[in-house]
Amino acid sequence: MTNTAQITTPDLSLIKTVKHATVLQNLRIKHTRIKQVIDDLGCLIYPGSQDSILMVCGPTGAGKSTLAKHMVAEEIERSAREMETNAGIIPAVYVEARASGEDDFSWRLFYQSILDQLEADVDMPKYQYGVDPQTGRMVVSRNPKDRTLAGLRTSVERALLHRKTKFLVIDEAAHIIRQTRRNRLEIQLDTLKSLANQAGVQIVLVGSYDLFQLMSLSGQLARRTHVLHLERYRQDVESDIRAFRACVQKFQDAAPALWEKNLMSYADVLHENTLGCVGTLSAVLTRAANLVEKKGGWSVEHLRTALLSELQRERILKEIVDGEEAINPGLIRVMRKPKNSSSQQRSAA
Ligand SMILES: Nc1ncnc2c1ncn2[C@@H]1O[C@H](COP(=O)(O)OP(=O)(O)OP(=O)(O)O)[C@@H](O)[C@H]1O
Ligand SMILES: [Mg+2]
Repeated sequence: MTNTAQITTPDLSLIKTVKHATVLQNLRIKHTRIKQVIDDLGCLIYPGSQDSILMVCGPTGAGKSTLAKHMVAEEIERSAREMETNAGIIPAVYVEARASGEDDFSWRLFYQSILDQLEADVDMPKYQYGVDPQTGRMVVSRNPKDRTLAGLRTSVERALLHRKTKFLVIDEAAHIIRQTRRNRLEIQLDTLKSLANQAGVQIVLVGSYDLFQLMSLSGQLARRTHVLHLERYRQDVESDIRAFRACVQKFQDAAPALWEKNLMSYADVLHENTLGCVGTLSAVLTRAANLVEKKGGWSVEHLRTALLSELQRERILKEIVDGEEAINPGLIRVMRKPKNSSSQQRSAA
């Protein structure tokens, strides 16, 4: 009896700690960069678009995965009405391209995780084709052929079609091409491209700069993919400084008692340490919040302890600088000045 009482008595200090850190961890700021990329994707994703494959790249900790999940959740929310009348619809899907531990990327594992998403919370066997619009349940295929790679692929195409999926987000997409021999890069992308075409979905590849760098190994791939850059907030651009400070302010406002309103005085330090990446800022501040609470109140020492070490920061900075160097020329688009109409008329004459 006594033991049970001890086990069930909650440790209040622990609950408080979890609560504050969780508030910060769950905070989602719709900051400038995120808004820009969401807007751009909104313009590029539409039925019949020619851009069957899009790519979102940015530094580690910029918030790419969070953005990807948000996009999918937003699309599902937008389609709520349609989903009410047709229970089988899943308008957007998020999957992670997992490293299989094998030499080559495992398409089998990949297709399987898409199917898992398309089945949503429906508790049914794995290999299926269509969806019953009344129940939203997948119609089961009992054919053993469907367990082959080709069968899985067909299942994915059909399920995407039946679910009326508009776009498929593939996070950590570098895994698809990382272990691939150079001459097979195009084949991997062609596989995705044909999946997009057959299933009538747009595919959004998400990853760090290594994704862009890997894609650039093949000029053909680079040419055929539209790239969006979820950039860090730079410390040498006035508007970036303001936008980053606004994010710090949100973290301060989310737990004012915890920080005793001290956080904003360290906005520049945080900008420098986190390299202007909001996800990294979130990780640092969640860590700091835990320390502040566990160790009995605000102290700048707790914030210092939570910062990235110089070594970590330098490594990330190098990745960012290399990544930006690679991606920026790829994003520059030149529009030649059109000849003015009078000179056009003259030349026509
Ligand atoms: N807009 C945001 N507002 C608040 N917190 C955020 C935001 N975006 C990301 N975060 C926080 O930062 C953490 C890291 O973000 P996320 O995983 O999206 O980064 P990433 O760019 O995908 O990094 P990686 O390249 O390492 O995969 C998230 O778990 C989340 O808690
Ligand atoms: Mg990520």
